[in-house]
Amino acid sequence: MPRLNRKDEHIIIRLKQKPSLADFSDIHFVHNCLPEIDLDEVTLETSLLGMELRSPLFINALTGGTPLSKRINAALAGVARECGLPMAVGSQMAALENPLVEDTFKVVREVYPEGLIWANLGSYATPELAQRAIEMIDAAALQIHLNVPQELAMKEGDCRFRGTLQRIKAIAAAAAIPVIVKEVGFGIAREQARLLIEAGAAAIDVSGRGGTNFLAIEGRRSRRRLSPEILSWGLPTAFSLVETLDAAAGKTRVIAAGGMFSSLNIAKALAMGADAVGIAGHPLYLLLKQGRRALVRAIKKLEQELRLIMLMTGSSTLEELRRAPLVIAGFTGDWMKQRNITLAEHR
Ligand code: FNR
Repeated sequence: MPRLNRKDEHIIIRLKQKPSLADFSDIHFVHNCLPEIDLDEVTLETSLLGMELRSPLFINALTGGTPLSKRINAALAGVARECGLPMAVGSQMAALENPLVEDTFKVVREVYPEGLIWANLGSYATPELAQRAIEMIDAAALQIHLNVPQELAMKEGDCRFRGTLQRIKAIAAAAAIPVIVKEVGFGIAREQARLLIEAGAAAIDVSGRGGTNFLAIEGRRSRRRLSPEILSWGLPTAFSLVETLDAAAGKTRVIAAGGMFSSLNIAKALAMGADAVGIAGHPLYLLLKQGRRALVRAIKKLEQELRLIMLMTGSSTLEELRRAPLVIAGFTGDWMKQRNITLAEHR
């Protein structure tokens, strides 16, 4: 069963790669020496697509379909429950093809009965498959992933990309829950974000370059040597975020993801206008290398530091954080100038 082996191989190879962070170093907060807020007033509460959240963080799509992934999904669901975060499962195609592995996804609902669990499928899905994936885990939202570079680098990759937008449109029209369109680490640019919004995406998860690199993972799996310039393909998360915020124009939700496991990156993305932040590769790495408790501690630390940063910008809510002054310099500033993007209208 190639799909099942592939899922485990992704995890094993991901663990060999040191987790990396997206580069948000061009984006600067301006310290506020007079915040006039007490730390215990600072709240991370927010809402996304009708879901009330106690924090803007969520565990992004990772896995399912194999005995190893069942154990990982159960542990991640336990962590998500303890931290009160939504959690997306990995692509459910394996279970739609083979109902015998449905339990590797359903375990998330068993461990986290009251949780906001998000379904996940590739853009090859049909409305009928999407409905089955949603029902399988009683999902609150459905993620549809786009992963062209990964398919191109996979030896068994499906390189037929025609009709993707039309399929997304059909799924979004039929789904009774919000559809989030996401990348897997190569980012989403303004032009495609606009098309996805027109097709009915309720939110866009940019999953840009800087964290998990599926070209590197697939290159290693297939033992094909990809040249370094191909390996670094993709829109960095910060660029992808400004591009997608521009397309969304405050009307569609935007999720920052791709190397976001840093309180400062998270705060910057939220201040730029992101509505939520997804984390995937780092949580997986911490869970498998250091255990569940270490992952819970790391997530709580991210949240506590986010509160400190909010206070130091004079913000007691995420809405106020969006109004905190930001300076965007360097390459990111140049990129925005050349692409004619100003964040002012989107924050
Ligand atoms: C992923 N990701 C992913 N995304 C998706 O939509 N469906 C999937 O099945 C998977 N599978 C998967 C497996 C593994 C091992 C990893 C590390 C990642 C992509 C993930 O949800 C996210 O978009 C990217 O990994 C970028 O975020 P990080 O990892 O840099 O935080």
